[in-house]
Amino acid sequence: MALEDVDLDYVRLGETGLSVSELAFGTWRFGRETDEGTVEIDEERAHELLDAYETAGGRFIDTADVYGGGDSEDWIGDWLDERDREEYVLASKVYWPTREDDPNGRGLGRKHIRRNIDLMLDRLGTEYLDVLYIHRWDEQTPARELMRTLTGLVDEGKVNYLGASTFEPNAWRVAKANEIAKKEGLEPFTVSQPRYNLVNREVEGDYLDMCRDYGLGVCPWSPLGQGVLTGKYDREDRATDDSAASEDEGWKEAYLTEENFDVVDEVRAIADEVDATPAQVSLAWLMHHDAVAAPLVGARTVDQLEENLGAASVSLSDDQFERLAESKGGPYDDI
Ligand SMILES: NC(=O)c1ccc[n+]([C@@H]2O[C@H](COP(=O)([O-])OP(=O)(O)OC[C@H]3O[C@@H](n4cnc5c(N)ncnc54)[C@H](OP(=O)(O)O)[C@@H]3O)[C@@H](O)[C@H]2O)c1
Repeated sequence: MALEDVDLDYVRLGETGLSVSELAFGTWRFGRETDEGTVEIDEERAHELLDAYETAGGRFIDTADVYGGGDSEDWIGDWLDERDREEYVLASKVYWPTREDDPNGRGLGRKHIRRNIDLMLDRLGTEYLDVLYIHRWDEQTPARELMRTLTGLVDEGKVNYLGASTFEPNAWRVAKANEIAKKEGLEPFTVSQPRYNLVNREVEGDYLDMCRDYGLGVCPWSPLGQGVLTGKYDREDRATDDSAASEDEGWKEAYLTEENFDVVDEVRAIADEVDATPAQVSLAWLMHHDAVAAPLVGARTVDQLEENLGAASVSLSDDQFERLAESKGGPYDDI
């Protein structure tokens, strides 16, 4: 399907008052340096990808202060310069080190967050972020300090909604932070960005239950298991294209497992039934999921993005959804 024929819908982001595109566009490979010293996606390609996403009706862009050492935010900002910023929903993240040798140049302490937010807004060329995520939990910063710092940013108009990009062992941390927020009249987390896809199912159970209970809008990252769910790898660990990940031995060990290939087989079977590609079926599975608001599509090329955005017109039956859910060997009841 051509990009012009894709027309992404809007969905509500959890129980917030914000509407977002049903597929967000993730930009972590913008400006990212490889071990060989090349850049995975340069500025020109980044702008082509953003153009393609926009053509398909996409308006929900995800970045982070550390992507490409700030280049991702910078390049999005330059691209937005010629557009009406109000039409876009911008999400970014804070946590990872931004000043290598400075103990306060990392984490979620008040000093790091407050210094960083202005740099982020400056790079993006905007006065506010729609969503600010904490990229990970910081064991060193008390939850109360964190919620008070983040609430300050909302009160100052620099951030509209707070998000937590965390994993399954941290469900209780988000719950605790939101209880502190409730008790003290502070802003709670209303958005969540966990890793979630058909081969990474750790958030099923407690974490997704917590998201449902607090009404968090869930935006899964790595919805294609970093490419595995596109079906481009075979059981002999070969990729059918020049995938960057296929060169990484640690990555292969984690992702190219027999168990994951069993899931891919079921994805392929359903792709044949609905006349779509495995990537589209894997994304459609998340879009069909009652706990998910908007998956974050990633892509290295415009062709990949075009294919992925085509997921918006793929419908799965409840039976197909369940077969995919069970392909990992369950327990499906916990979803
Ligand atoms: N919060 C966090 O901690 C966190 C962590 C990671 C990502 N994220 C966010 O989530 C976004 C998406 O994550 P992700 O990039 O890991 O997502 P993903 O969709 O699971 O993987 C994307 C990668 O898979 C390959 N691919 C994608 N579509 C393809 C297609 N149609 N055919 C063949 N290969 C395809 C490409 O890599 P190759 O071509 O090199 O194989 C692409 O870069 C990121 O951009 C970022 O915004 C957040």
